Amino acid sequence: MASCISVSFIFIFTVSVLLISSALIRPTSCIPLPRTPQFDLDLLLIGDAQSVDSASSVQFTDPGASSSSSGLLLRTKPFRFPISFSTDFVFSISSHNGDGLALVIVPADFLPRFSRDSFGLSREKKFFGVEYDTFMNVNVGDENANHVGVDVDSLNSVAVCNVSSINLVLSSGMKVHSWVDYDSSSKRLEIRLSEFGSPRPYNPLLAYQIDLGQLWKGKEVLVGLSSSSSSPGNSMQNTIVYSWKFSLRSIPKWLHSEPLDPLRSSPKWLHSQPADPQEFSGEKGKDIKILDNIVWGLMRFVFVLIFAAFVVVLLRLVLANGGNQVNVVPAKGSTNPGDFGYQKVNMVVDGGLDDIKH
Ligand SMILES: *[C@@H]1O[C@H](CO)[C@@H](O)[C@H](O)[C@H]1NC(C)=O
Repeated sequence: MASCISVSFIFIFTVSVLLISSALIRPTSCIPLPRTPQFDLDLLLIGDAQSVDSASSVQFTDPGASSSSSGLLLRTKPFRFPISFSTDFVFSISSHNGDGLALVIVPADFLPRFSRDSFGLSREKKFFGVEYDTFMNVNVGDENANHVGVDVDSLNSVAVCNVSSINLVLSSGMKVHSWVDYDSSSKRLEIRLSEFGSPRPYNPLLAYQIDLGQLWKGKEVLVGLSSSSSSPGNSMQNTIVYSWKFSLRSIPKWLHSEPLDPLRSSPKWLHSQPADPQEFSGEKGKDIKILDNIVWGLMRFVFVLIFAAFVVVLLRLVLANGGNQVNVVPAKGSTNPGDFGYQKVNMVVDGGLDDIKH
């Protein structure tokens, strides 16, 4: 109850601060994006990002802007490395000059430093990005205006891949689909790209070994998609994202396989009846099959119960030892809507207050 009241208080306080700040200064454009099947995440539209085509897609930059324009689609839930993630998104970039699109991971308090150029990152020192770059910026060592790059704290990519090599042009206005996967145990990042409608390619376009846990050192981070069109004298580029999925996997592989494998590789005695129902004809065979299923279902249930009890005892032991090792991650990874709601509100306040200061 108490936490409910304090959350309500924080909410009312935040809304008041936002109302007051928006009355004093240019309104901070930081709008929640309604959830749809294409954007099944809690997202905020930042900067020039806006939902278009009756909220079916997001346009990142303002092609009519007189100078530079930037937009960010930010997932509101913070998380911490080490953790594995999988994400995929469909986008198109018009053939005008501009920077393209980037998948960015930024500190949780990033918002006040979101800028108008360089994927909104020019004022941020600590970031990780996968850039879909459509501008050849020799200042950051770009080789061409059609590449995918991995960026760590700088737009001077640590790894690049020529997109022309797979006969795609990022800024052709065509819809392209990209998948980015990071596995925290192998510390491998894989980026795939294909024309929209084609299946996920088997081979990654770019694979890169990177320890994101080491990079972030347990800091809370946020993930977003970002675009900017700040090429001198031209911000006509139109970047549109049609869908975005993002998922985290905090549970180690051994936890997944534990409850399933012992059942699969169960000794023969578990099958009290012959496994092959073909051996029985008519009603009798059917009955035995049903009975077998019931026994089988009960056994599964008992196994799951035993396993759950085992996990609880293990977690208690780990927590009692005061350890915050990887083993605890599954418990932390479980989403607590309350916490995130609070975090989201907090972030908006930061943005608002910062604007008052400047
Ligand atoms: C990128 O690939 C295309 C097609 O294979 C090639 O013509 C071009 O020279 C490459 N660019 C760079 C910078 O490697």
